[in-house]
Amino acid sequence: MKTDIDGLTRTDYCGNITKEQLNKEVTVYGWVNSWRDHGGVIFIDLRDRTGIIQIVFDPSDNKETHNYAQSLRSEYCVAARGHLRSRPEGTINPNLATGEVELLVDCELRILSESKTPPFPLSEADNVGEDRRLKYRYMDLRREKLQKNLIIRHKTVKAVRDFYDKNGFIEVETPVLTKSTPEGARDYLVPSRVNKEKFYALPQSPQLFKQLLMIAGFDRYFQVVKCFRDEDLRADRQPEFTQIDVESSFVNEEDVISVSEKMLQYVFRNVLNFDIPLPIPRMTHKEAMDRFGTDKPDIRFPLELVDVGEIFKKTGFGVFKNVLEKGGQIKLINAEAMGDMTRRQIDRLTALTACYGAKGLAWIKVKADLLQSPIIKFFSDNEKKELLKKAEARPGDLLFFVADTKKVVADSLSHLRLELAKIKGYLPNKNFSFLWVTDFPLFEWSDTEERFLSMHHPFTAPFAADLEKYKNGDLSKIRSRAYDITLNGNEIGGGSIRINRSDLQLEMLNLLRIDEKEARQKFGFLLDALNYGAPPHGGIAFGLDRIIMLMVGADSIRDVIAFPKTQRAYCPLTDAPSSVTAKQLRELHIRTIV
Ligand code: AMO
Ligand code: AMP
Repeated sequence: MKTDIDGLTRTDYCGNITKEQLNKEVTVYGWVNSWRDHGGVIFIDLRDRTGIIQIVFDPSDNKETHNYAQSLRSEYCVAARGHLRSRPEGTINPNLATGEVELLVDCELRILSESKTPPFPLSEADNVGEDRRLKYRYMDLRREKLQKNLIIRHKTVKAVRDFYDKNGFIEVETPVLTKSTPEGARDYLVPSRVNKEKFYALPQSPQLFKQLLMIAGFDRYFQVVKCFRDEDLRADRQPEFTQIDVESSFVNEEDVISVSEKMLQYVFRNVLNFDIPLPIPRMTHKEAMDRFGTDKPDIRFPLELVDVGEIFKKTGFGVFKNVLEKGGQIKLINAEAMGDMTRRQIDRLTALTACYGAKGLAWIKVKADLLQSPIIKFFSDNEKKELLKKAEARPGDLLFFVADTKKVVADSLSHLRLELAKIKGYLPNKNFSFLWVTDFPLFEWSDTEERFLSMHHPFTAPFAADLEKYKNGDLSKIRSRAYDITLNGNEIGGGSIRINRSDLQLEMLNLLRIDEKEARQKFGFLLDALNYGAPPHGGIAFGLDRIIMLMVGADSIRDVIAFPKTQRAYCPLTDAPSSVTAKQLRELHIRTIV
């Protein structure tokens, strides 16, 4: 039995075969996707990365290949040589690109490699637990869906590189073994063997290196680059992920935004044949928070948040009164025409908002002649009237309220909004809706750390006028020159204009309660570099995995990464992370404690 391909040169990929090759001799390689024995004639769907071709073994044409074909099983890897013919009337498969033809294997069949029974049938993989699919990722990756995702990923990266290259950007690789760059997550640390008790950090982003490249005069840089963040994982977060990282000198916000949206337009046009209308709309961070309760609003549907605090200023309803007295907010969402929701559905939504801290979810059903609600008895006639007006409520509508701190109101109602959109059938929707969110606050208060943290990162330039006005007062009022870009309610990128003066950088670090000694120890190399003619500069980084996930309509970025980790940052395929030997630890001067 021969298991090589000598003398069997592939003439075509399975999925590329067309009627043009009718009656010609064709050789294909592939995997047995499925097989049927119809009264002695064997039909096999042979699959490669381009698609499927039906190959046929008929004992009346070639007894030998037919006999041999009887030993084929799912996922065997084979080579087949034969003649292409039209499928008989009535057996044409319109769902298959090659559905009008079939390859009669009348010359040769060679089994190149047998397969054990697959760990799961590929056709049923969608119902198989993800851990099992990840353990046998090389089998899962044989599926058309995942192959398509990775091919789209390849095309996207190629288009990204083409675009930046055409626009004068230079791709430069930055180190992976480096020093901590704060992006808000924990670092992955790598112990150094030769530098006792010292650690490298894997980069959370190439932020500081790309700034140094600007100082070095590269003017326009980009990189398709792996980043590492030890943070709680979700469907749209992996411990290692890929950024399209970009930086330019002598630019302001408009320049970065304009090149970035042209890049997105170029990529979506080339890869998906989808035209992004430019300019992409923009919204300030404040407006996004006011209207949608989130800095990454999905603007494909209405259901906006309405502030009704003003109406209840003098209310007799204790819950609302207390909240307003404590400086909180009362906001509502008008779930238009959803007034027929059942108590059970409302209870489910209440439980959802509770996950985000809401202590209750008040509701009012608006009917033609009455308002139905457990709390309506607490409202005055005027409050009712004003409320209906402000909510633009009509009979059949259902109003949902949360009264709480600003943060709880925003978190709970923004998630309620997404859930209502799902119930209402606004989602999913194949359209791509981009939005820039601008003018972010420079700092946000952290209750756990009891200090201000950078909302973006500490290298972001502040609005100069805001800084002067508030640096000795309410820091939360200082706006930054940062911008994010969202796609269908997902943050797909973010960046800023940077600080290019050492003294200002030091001042900003001080506001973050990083004193000069600590600042020099952590970022001394940047502070030094900023003293040597650092040009004004700014940039952005896009989350490549998230963009691809949205391009292909996947639910998770794991579906667009060849070998992803689980939500517990574990790789079931390789069993990483895993223990190391005592010798390795000794060499690294490390002792573990349990
Ligand atoms: P930021 O931290 O916003 O900015 O990251 C940029 C983009 O990267 C994506 N992203 C992730 N994707 C998958 N898994 C993760 N764990 C993950 N974390 C972030 C997001 C995000 O918008 N240096 C700055 C950029 C700059 O200022 O130029 C930075 O890293 O889509
Ligand atoms: P209670 O007085 O706690 O029984 O609440 C009366 C109604 O007000 C219930 O429908 C609660 O869901 C609602 N409710 C209570 N607290 C809040 C809140 N903070 N925001 C919105 N509704 C609330």
